[in-house]
This record gives sequence, C-alpha cells and structure tokens, in this order.
Amino acid sequence: MTSTQAARRPILHRAKRKAEQMLGPAGIFFKGFVKHPVMVGAIVPSSRRTIERVLSRVDWDQCRLFVEYGPGVGTFCRPVLEKLRRDGRLIVIDTNPDFIAYLSRTIGDSRFIAVNGSAADVEEIVRAHGFDHADYVLSGLPFSTLPEGVGPAIMAATHRVLRPGGAFLVYQYTARARTLMGKYFRHIDKGFEPVNVPPCVISWGWKE
Ligand SMILES: C[S@@+](CC[C@H](N)C(=O)[O-])C[C@H]1O[C@@H](n2cnc3c(N)ncnc32)[C@H](O)[C@@H]1O
Repeated sequence: MTSTQAARRPILHRAKRKAEQMLGPAGIFFKGFVKHPVMVGAIVPSSRRTIERVLSRVDWDQCRLFVEYGPGVGTFCRPVLEKLRRDGRLIVIDTNPDFIAYLSRTIGDSRFIAVNGSAADVEEIVRAHGFDHADYVLSGLPFSTLPEGVGPAIMAATHRVLRPGGAFLVYQYTARARTLMGKYFRHIDKGFEPVNVPPCVISWGWKE
C-alpha cells in the first residue's frame, strides 16, 4: 500500500460510517440483500408484530443463554436484550461480516456477543463462550435457500445444543423449514404472522 493510499483509509472509513448512518438499519439490510441475496433471503427486516409473536413463548426468568442465527442488522437483538435477565447472554451468529461489524459497533451492551461464523458451528461457539447449552435459539435463516446439507446440519446441531425444555424459535416465509424441523423436534407449536413482508410462518420446536 502506498502512503497516499494509507492516508486515504481513515477518510474512506469515515465516509463509509457516514453513508451507513444515512442509510439506517433498513438500508444496510437491503445492501446486504443485494450483495448476498441467497444467504439473506429477505429484502426488509422482520416486523415488530413478528418479533413480539416469536418471543412470546420465551420464559425469560429461565433464560441465561439466548442464541440467534442470522441477526442481520439486529431487528431481534434489541427486543431480546430488553427482555433478557441482567446476568443473561445473547450470542448472535451471522456469516455476513458486514452485519457483524455493524452490530458490534452499534450495540453497546455487555451481555451481547456477535460472532462472524456459521450457525452449523453453534456448539463450538457456545462452548467457546463458557456455556454447555443454550436455553433458546432463534433463527431467521433462509432454510429453503441454504446450500445443500447446511439446513439439516444446523437443525441437528441446534437440537444438540439446546437444554431439555429449551426451544428453537423459527420464522420463515414458507412452511418448508417446519418439515425439516419435524425430523429433529417431536413437539412443534405452530403460528402465523400476517403483518410482515412477506407474511411469515412461525414454529417453536421444544427439546424433549
Ligand atoms: C432473512 S435474514 C435475517 C433477518 C433478520 N433476522 C430480521 O429479523 O430481519 C437472514 C440472515 O441469515 C444470515 N445467514 C445465512 N446463512 C447463515 C448461516 N449458515 N449461519 C449464520 N447466518 C447465516 C444472513 O447473512 C442474513 O443476515
């Protein structure tokens, strides 16, 4: 790198930050979709109604570790942190480094841990942060467009990482993920939220 290029770096960095501030979370999410449409799988973040409905089954008093897959720009992170106990932890895992960098910069909560990685590695990630199990796992992953084999690997790892009585909370635009979920979770509660773009199917899979 030349000295001129090095001198320009902080300016470019500041310009990027400024552009992010102007775009807001929805703009950053849309940018992520344009860059990785298959991995992101949605053009706008989840609605407030979806967030409340998905989280309504969580027993917050019994939740020490909450894990989220595919947090994007943090649509669920802030509501989860509002409800999470003071000694709880929220670990979020996303394959997109831009989303993880954005979340790390904008969420200043000591209970929050953002990891750039795959949900398939949840067990290692949870152990690396000093936990044996997760109480709840939330997923906004686009199961129907994930590469071959990744969906089943994530379902199996999630079933193993949950404590008995814990749950896997999944929101999707089709019921296809529920079929896959049924191979790992015997007890699944079903829901639907019409006020979302597009309307979404919700499943709560309970670890026996
Ligand atoms: C539909 S978006 C999530 C939307 C967001 N949670 C919301 O409520 O608006 C899907 C996210 O999953 C992430 N993702 C895709 N495959 C993944 C994987 N294997 N592990 C972790 N994150 C993944 C994408 O980068 C993207 O942020």
